[in-house]
This record gives sequence, C-alpha cells and structure tokens, in this order.
Amino acid sequence: MKRKTPDTFRYILPVFSLFCGLFCVSGCGTPQTEMQTKELIRSAAPAYDENFVTVGFVQTGKESDWRDANTNDYLHTFTEANGYNLLYIDGNSNSDRQIKAAYDLIAQKVDYIIIDPIVEDGWEDVLKLAKAEGIPVIIADRGVSADPSLYACWIGSDFKTEGINAAKWLDSYLEQQNRGNEDIGIVILEGTEGASAAIGRTEGLMEEISAHDNWHIVTSQCANFTQGEGKNVMEQILKDYADSDIDVVISENDNMMFGAMKAMEHAGISYGVDGDVITISFDALYEAFELMQEGKLMVSVECNPLIAGLSHQVIQDLEAGKSVAPIHYVEESVFTYENASSHISDRKY
Ligand code: AHR
Repeated sequence: MKRKTPDTFRYILPVFSLFCGLFCVSGCGTPQTEMQTKELIRSAAPAYDENFVTVGFVQTGKESDWRDANTNDYLHTFTEANGYNLLYIDGNSNSDRQIKAAYDLIAQKVDYIIIDPIVEDGWEDVLKLAKAEGIPVIIADRGVSADPSLYACWIGSDFKTEGINAAKWLDSYLEQQNRGNEDIGIVILEGTEGASAAIGRTEGLMEEISAHDNWHIVTSQCANFTQGEGKNVMEQILKDYADSDIDVVISENDNMMFGAMKAMEHAGISYGVDGDVITISFDALYEAFELMQEGKLMVSVECNPLIAGLSHQVIQDLEAGKSVAPIHYVEESVFTYENASSHISDRKY
C-alpha cells in the first residue's frame, strides 16, 4: 500500500522548515525566493514505508492563535499511531512559498496533500498537476478559486454566514438598547486581502450593513489577521478619523481585536459593555472568552479550527474507495459577553 519517508528526511524537513520560518521572521539575509528554491525543489522521491499513509500538510503560517490551534490539531491527529507519516510545511505567510511546497510534495509522491491556502488565487496549475499525478488534495480552512474538480474536497467554515451573524447580533443589540434608529459609525479591520476568510466575512458584513440606512462604514482596512497589525492599523485609524464617531469596531479575527483594544486604551477610548465602542470579532479563542466575561469584548463569532478530524475521516474514506462530499462545513456558534461564562470551561482552543 503506502510508502514512508526515511527517518532522516522525516526529521530534516520540519527542522529545515522551522529554520526557514525563523529566518524569514527575522527579516534578514538572503531574499526569500532564493531560499525557497534551495529548500523546496528536490528531484527524487524518497521511498516510503508501506505501513503509513504519507500526508503533506501546507499550512499558512503562524499569523494568529487560531492558526496555532489548527496546526496543533493536525499534528495531534496525523500521527504514526493513527497510521500517518505527516510532512508539515509552514507557509510563513507567503503564498508563493505555499505553492512551491505543494509542487515539492507532488515531486515527493506523497499519498495526500492538505492545503490551508493563504489566498484563493494561484492554485490552478499545481492542483492540475496533483490531479494528473493521482494525488488527492484536500483544501482546508480557507478556499481556493480553482475549479472544484481539481481537488477531492474542501473542509472549513462558512465565512459569509459568520459575517452575517456578526452583523445580525449588532442589529439585535442596538434594538435592545433602543438605538435602532441612531446613526452608527462602523470601523472594520479586515483579514488578509484575497483570503476567503476575509472575503466571505466582509461580504456577509456588507450585505447586512447596506441593509441599514443609518449604519455607515467609517473605514474598512486590512490588518492581515495579526495582533500587531490590528494595533498599528487601529492606532492610525484613530488619528485619521479623530473627528468621526466610531460606535462599533468589527475585527475579522480575535487577534486583530486584541491589538485594536490596546490602541483604543492608549488613545483613552473606552470600549465594551460599559464603554463607548461596541466590540465584535471572530474566532472565539479562549482569550476572547475571558475578555467577554470581563465585558470588554461583546461578541466573538466562532470559527472552528479543529478540522483535522474531518480531514482524517475524508482520507480514511478515500483509502476505503468511498466517494466524499465536495464540501464539509464545520459546526460553529456565536458567543457573547452574556453567555461566555456558561461556555468557557468547554473551550478547547
Ligand atoms: O482562515 C481562518 C482565519 O485565519 C481565522 O479567523 C484567523 O484567526 C486565521 O488566521
């Protein structure tokens, strides 16, 4: 049946990947493209042990705590005890690097490839090659714009519905506060441009916002899903829009909101249940629950990172010769400052 990577290669790849990750984060030395070429392109496929299913997993990077939870879920699910030989590749927040890694995994003749794509576009050619080589690809978390016939299935969140749910919560909250007819100024911190998580959430939010004549967007800006950019972008917004009324901050993930909260604190702006700015974000991290309990964060729309089990199930089905559904949505809820205390003890990430 399946093949296994020799031990030396198995240990070299993650270490090399880690080295490159650290190197890129430090922002010094050889340009990234040169390093990728050296690191990722290999000519010969290693021999694998038939007792394991070899899976290459191309992750986006380490942009958020959500991402760490997602990575850990894969590392704990695709274990030797579960019959897998996992080749983990950190995309270092670079979509070119991700695509090169996918080519490399095809050259290594792995059994399956799982990709958490940073952005939707650019995957067509490598997916065509994987299909031609008979390697099933599972797209997980964010989606791709390539034709679905090129990959086995997609597993992840309904991002547009998440955006709609966030805005619907705002609507009901304002009604409850008798502010339904007030002019409401909204700031949006968007995730990475071209990422389906950002595209879907923005689409859902805009659909609901445009249905309210008294809601308007003060500004909507990209902060790349990271806490640092959330803080920096919010600091700049508070300077640039100092004369505007900001009633609501919607951040397309919790980490950007944590950064934005710091920026508001430094600017002397109060937020949360007892403050001037309504705070809404996505992911529902444990830290978000703590902030909801304190009334600082008012709602976090869940985006469930624990999807490795579904990927495992899909691979088991494919191994058994079964057909798999093209789309698998994960279950998600909406958590608020009012219900956070009843759920915090169940949180797994
Ligand atoms: O694609 C899922 C998004 O990516 C999560 O909301 C975010 O935190 C992550 O980095």
